[in-house]
Amino acid sequence: MKVLVATSKPFAPVAVKGIKEVLEAAGHEMVLVEEDMIKAVADCAGLIVRSDIVDKDVMDAAKELKVVVRAGAGYDNIDLAEATAHGICVMNTPGQNSNAVAELVFGMLVTLVRNRYNGTSGTELKDKTLGIHAYGQVGRNVARIAKGFGMKVSALDPWVKDEDMVADGITPMHSVEELYQNNQYVSLHIPATEQTKKSVGKALVELLPKNGVLINTARKEVIDEESLAEALAAREDVRYVADVKPDMAEELEAKYPERVLFTPKKMGAQTAEANINAGIAAANQVVMHLKDGWNRFQVNK
Ligand code: 3PG
Repeated sequence: MKVLVATSKPFAPVAVKGIKEVLEAAGHEMVLVEEDMIKAVADCAGLIVRSDIVDKDVMDAAKELKVVVRAGAGYDNIDLAEATAHGICVMNTPGQNSNAVAELVFGMLVTLVRNRYNGTSGTELKDKTLGIHAYGQVGRNVARIAKGFGMKVSALDPWVKDEDMVADGITPMHSVEELYQNNQYVSLHIPATEQTKKSVGKALVELLPKNGVLINTARKEVIDEESLAEALAAREDVRYVADVKPDMAEELEAKYPERVLFTPKKMGAQTAEANINAGIAAANQVVMHLKDGWNRFQVNK
């Protein structure tokens, strides 16, 4: 059977090689597509994507499609209701790229607190407070690395028991207000859903202690940008760092060149290791699903 791999956001070549090997070993044919997924997907049984949009138009065109695997964590780019209506199983590959995202959190934070290496004295992360907003796979990796930096780590996650956080050496928080009030650094790891979109703005950011920093390696949609801009205007000590550039990036960079830091493209999961882990996991999941309906990581149940 044909399996389409969308590469508009490229996988490292070594990951593409690995994906091809897994698919071919199971008797499938890998087809790569950079653009025009609608045409390419027509006779494919499987589809592997990163952030490419998989919507009704794609699914209407994909008459033989049985499974879509998002090689990564967030699946807000896939229309789950349409997938269910089309009888298509959608899965993600939880945890496979999370270390890469977590490492970037610290790469960006060090760049920020060392004043972008401009020769002036910056600050250190050691002994500072870090609040993790959602203690999932990325959040746990962020906690592990933060402890190496000597930070004091706490986290908010209604799905995780207090004792499990405590066992990890993390202080559990029980409300967003408590999280933002008690941590100089807050790292966002919530998915973009109808409930979380625009959920972080001035009301939370203004709770941050002095010299507060919000870092977002999750999704730009979870930020209420107008309201964040108001918080940055009201609090001259607050800074915003994001791997998921806001729509207002240009305006914010012009107004606050030293207080905002954005990657030019979303880079969190852009490592060879993450591409290999997520890409090969996705290929294996497609193979297993096409073989016997395996659906352990299905997200549209
Ligand atoms: C994810 O949801 O897995 C990360 O945000 C990485 O996304 P990407 O594959 O589009 O870089």
